[in-house]
Amino acid sequence: MREIALLGSRIFVWPGATAEVGENVRLIAGGARAFVLTDAHCRKIASRVRLSLKAAGYKTALLAVPSGEKTKSLKWAEQVYEHLTGHSIERGSLFVAVGGGVVSDLGGFVAATYMRGLPLVLVPTTLLAQVDAAIGGKNGVNLWCGKNLVGTFHQPRAVFIDPLVLASLPKRDYIGGLAEIVKCAMIRDAELFAFVEANMQALLERQIPILEEVVFRCASIKAAVVEEDEKEAGVRAILNYGHTIGHALESVGRYATLHHGEAVAIGMEAEAIMAMELGIAPLETLAAQNRLLKMCGLPTRLKGLAIPAVLHRLAFDKKVKDGRPRFVMPEGIGKVRHGVDVPDDIVRLALKTVSA
Ligand SMILES: NC(=O)c1ccc[n+]([C@@H]2O[C@H](COP(=O)([O-])OP(=O)(O)OC[C@H]3O[C@@H](n4cnc5c(N)ncnc54)[C@H](O)[C@@H]3O)[C@@H](O)[C@H]2O)c1
Ligand SMILES: [Zn+2]
Repeated sequence: MREIALLGSRIFVWPGATAEVGENVRLIAGGARAFVLTDAHCRKIASRVRLSLKAAGYKTALLAVPSGEKTKSLKWAEQVYEHLTGHSIERGSLFVAVGGGVVSDLGGFVAATYMRGLPLVLVPTTLLAQVDAAIGGKNGVNLWCGKNLVGTFHQPRAVFIDPLVLASLPKRDYIGGLAEIVKCAMIRDAELFAFVEANMQALLERQIPILEEVVFRCASIKAAVVEEDEKEAGVRAILNYGHTIGHALESVGRYATLHHGEAVAIGMEAEAIMAMELGIAPLETLAAQNRLLKMCGLPTRLKGLAIPAVLHRLAFDKKVKDGRPRFVMPEGIGKVRHGVDVPDDIVRLALKTVSA
């Protein structure tokens, strides 16, 4: 068992963790009841977690919501509140979210707000949730007009990361998660970059020792960045590498079929091109990142990109300052700077390159 400490929450990584949540949670949190939230595709994993909670003496209830981004809504938050009331969940009862980023964001939001806050336990089941969404204490739901517009910061008491649960994850979701791993290596850890490259085949085969190592190192990077800047006043922005362009690509309606990780991969390619054009990163950095993204099976190009629509979207980015989007730029492998104002012609050039 490996552990990362983050702002009062304890993040555990070990194969088989899901079957041992109950006994370990007992050592951290009290309470007599535990409410388990999951989604339709994670029922089996959630049942295992629930059994372990029962064995540890908790009175349990379980709710499985439909899977998919649409469930991250105030409407579903209200449904979950109703179930909490129905199951006599009180202050001090545990709230356990078992699923991908959708379940951890919705569950985290409900746990943060119900009775002004329940102790939260997260059991992330997607690669993205294990290295990103379940770490850092941010939660949220979407409004019709935008993603993650309503949410809070609520650190979980514990996060249980079990690489074994990734075996059943659909291939496209798994590959999408690899984009966040490349991002982690690019922003903070050249050694991790080399490790991922050297062990790519094992990673693609989801071999447990390699997966455990990579997930642990990425979760540690995210935790370290969050520890430095919990409320996103400064350095936490580096976690958005590839996301400024990536989010714009995702939200240009025509590309609704693009997965988050795929958009981020193309975003990292575009942002590395900008860095090279600005003389911030050498060509070798762009080439090495491009090679690793391709090895992962991630795209670095998007044919027929509607550049004006993407530029328009960029103006609405959450990180806009003085009316201009800010970018995270690589200086080399494992080192980035943030808050960079990139001239429009360079942004356009990078977009043109990735749309070729
Ligand atoms: N709070 C944060 O800091 C943060 C960070 C990054 C992303 N997010 C959020 O995370 C969400 C995306 O998360 P995601 O990519 O995990 O998507 P997701 O939760 O929708 O999961 C993807 C799909 O995989 C299924 N699934 C999950 N685990 C499985 C398993 N082990 N086996 C089989 N199927 C499984 C899900 O049911 C779903 O169909 C977005 O809403 C995003 O905004 C939040
Ligand atoms: Zn992301």
